[in-house]
Amino acid sequence: MDPDEPGEALAELRGRRLGGAGLLQLAAGTGVAAYVVWAGLLMPGFRRVPLRLQVPYVPASARQVENVLTLLRGRSGKVVDLGSGDGRIVLEASRRGFHPAVGYELNPWLLWLAQFHAWRARRRAPAVTYHREDLWRVNLSDCTNVTVFLAPSVLPLLETKLLAELPDRARVVAGRFPLPTWAPSAVIGEGIDRAWAYDMHRVRQWAAAPSRGTSV
Ligand SMILES: C[S@@+](CC[C@H](N)C(=O)[O-])C[C@H]1O[C@@H](n2cnc3c(N)ncnc32)[C@H](O)[C@@H]1O
Ligand SMILES: *[C@@H]1O[C@H](CO)[C@@H](O)[C@H](O)[C@H]1NC(C)=O
Ligand SMILES: *[C@@H]1O[C@H](CO)[C@@H](O)[C@H](O)[C@H]1NC(C)=O
Repeated sequence: MDPDEPGEALAELRGRRLGGAGLLQLAAGTGVAAYVVWAGLLMPGFRRVPLRLQVPYVPASARQVENVLTLLRGRSGKVVDLGSGDGRIVLEASRRGFHPAVGYELNPWLLWLAQFHAWRARRRAPAVTYHREDLWRVNLSDCTNVTVFLAPSVLPLLETKLLAELPDRARVVAGRFPLPTWAPSAVIGEGIDRAWAYDMHRVRQWAAAPSRGTSV
């Protein structure tokens, strides 16, 4: 059975909490209901991801997608979207010639939706793939065109991961929220549609600069 099934989560919780006093059971019951909503509807697929790293689904705006892809203009080959949601960035990247265009996503409903959109657009976007994988476990050492739209709370950790794994020639484009300590090579758009581009070789040079080395 799929370990992410709400039914199994429920059974697990029951097993742990039943047998207590009536009041405790009532409290557990409400906890179970909340948990089932969370695990089954709001964040399915996220049971193994630590709570502080859980990022909810918020779709990118059309203008945001446009801005992200503008910052990848002139590039080609493989593009990777970390936390691809319904796949809108991946799909548009494929339409613009990125091959393959890859999305990593844990939420099975969103993956299903993304596959459906990809199927409908299969003629204009032929090289789309989605993986049901935790982005924190993906080895990014062969990725050079990367897009992200996550929450500010996880971006410091993402900086560490990208810095450790991405090759020097990689470009990262962040939508809506900038990477907290890096200096962007380019910024485009306003408000929630804004996007930032980071070139790894520049990020590394800048991080190694003597004026910064001691100040952090
Ligand atoms: C803010 S949404 C952005 C969705 C999409 N990239 C877009 O621009 O429309 C973040 C997405 O990342 C996914 N996500 C969050 N943490 C993840 C993880 N550890 N592994 C894979 N996907 C994750 C969420 O399920 C959600 O769909
Ligand atoms: C990313 O884009 C660059 C520039 O077009 C291209 O040379 C490179 O092959 C792409 N990355 C991958 C992994 O395909
Ligand atoms: C990622 O893959 C590369 C090349 O296959 C390997 O050298 C590196 O050790 C891997 N990194 C991690 C964190 O597994």
